[in-house]
Amino acid sequence: MTESLTAVVCPCRNIAGSLRLPGDKSISHRYAMLAAIAEGSTRLENFSTGADCSSTLGCLKALGAEWERQGTTVVIRGCGPDLRAAKAALDCGNSGSTMRMLCGILAGQEFSTELTGDESLSRRPMARVITPLAAMGASITAGENGRPPLRITGGSLKAIDYKMPVASAQVKSAVLFAGLFADGETRVEEPVRTRDHGELALRAFGAEVKRQGNVAQIVGGQKLHGIEAHVPGDISSAAFFLCAAALFPGSQLVIDGLLLNPTRARLLDVLVAMGTHISVTQVEEQHGELVGTVQVEGGELGGTTISGADTAALIDEIPVLAAIAPYSREGIEIRDARELRVKESDRIAALAVNLRGMGAQVEEREDGLKIPGGQKLHGAEINSFGDHRIAMAFAVAALRATGETSIQKADAAVISYPGFFEALESAVKR
Ligand code: S3P
Repeated sequence: MTESLTAVVCPCRNIAGSLRLPGDKSISHRYAMLAAIAEGSTRLENFSTGADCSSTLGCLKALGAEWERQGTTVVIRGCGPDLRAAKAALDCGNSGSTMRMLCGILAGQEFSTELTGDESLSRRPMARVITPLAAMGASITAGENGRPPLRITGGSLKAIDYKMPVASAQVKSAVLFAGLFADGETRVEEPVRTRDHGELALRAFGAEVKRQGNVAQIVGGQKLHGIEAHVPGDISSAAFFLCAAALFPGSQLVIDGLLLNPTRARLLDVLVAMGTHISVTQVEEQHGELVGTVQVEGGELGGTTISGADTAALIDEIPVLAAIAPYSREGIEIRDARELRVKESDRIAALAVNLRGMGAQVEEREDGLKIPGGQKLHGAEINSFGDHRIAMAFAVAALRATGETSIQKADAAVISYPGFFEALESAVKR
């Protein structure tokens, strides 16, 4: 099995071994962006190896922030708050995080920038960042229906009090980043709690960010200072291994140096509630982020319903939860997940079509899925739709199916986790 266009995954007995994950993608993006507008240099160890974070680094270099990368360490020389106009359009690749969060910083720059992306990114909604940043004073134009490409002309911004209509940590971070350049205090209120890496990263770089309930606040004009950090292992990448281990009695998996930020670790609670034995040890705090060791023992999985705030907290883990759902005793129901339709692919449709391809019964709804438990799946040809999390989710489903599964466009995994298929292969026991 190699990370070529098609990956073939065979069934296994269980999962065993110990593992460390590449640095968290959400944190890597934010640390790199804030490093670029900080004074002094920033050294980031275990920086995400995913292509998405390379897109961010590429954009930052085009905006004048020099960096060097050696292995998984990236050293970024900060420019201070003023970046340099890019000579050409910035290519954000497949990365919605790059495009949306960079807009927050570009809103405060006295020049124009064009941002483009690949085919998938070009279909994704950007009005969610355009609306608040325009209200702060940036001028932004987009393609049809608020889709990329974007052209943003920044300048002097005024603080806003913004109530986000969609739960999006990318939007929250974009507004807080723009708030750094604004006159006065910017307030962002989220409908439900989303990941707080933006707030924690701003604090790590020396800014004061207040948080009261679902409101985050930042006063403009604060200076950032470079940091030294080790990026915790990506829990959304670990999710594939945690769910794979949970599927089989006899699995014994240890993951060290894993991000355990409570706004990201809901999967552990869900797996425990479904009957998996999980212990967490050696927990410490690094720049406000919790990190620790997670030990998993597989067993029989019950079932669950994921809705409301849980859906937002598990948004990147739903593909793999849905992929293991047919093997659970009572099945999994996913509600309030309309956002999944505007991710790297329409993940609700991609999950339904591929689960059915493996022989599962699935009810597809506008905002979710209902997947009965107690089902037996067979190997099939999976269409990843070029979406990294769909490719990896079905690699996990394939481990308990009968026969071989081939995953088309499996190389999409490089978006968040190059080396995923090799890591999975070394953890599976046959
Ligand atoms: C992310 C937030 C989520 C998530 C994405 C990363 C982040 O997106 O799906 O993979 O780093 O802030 P939304 O902000 O669109 O919910």
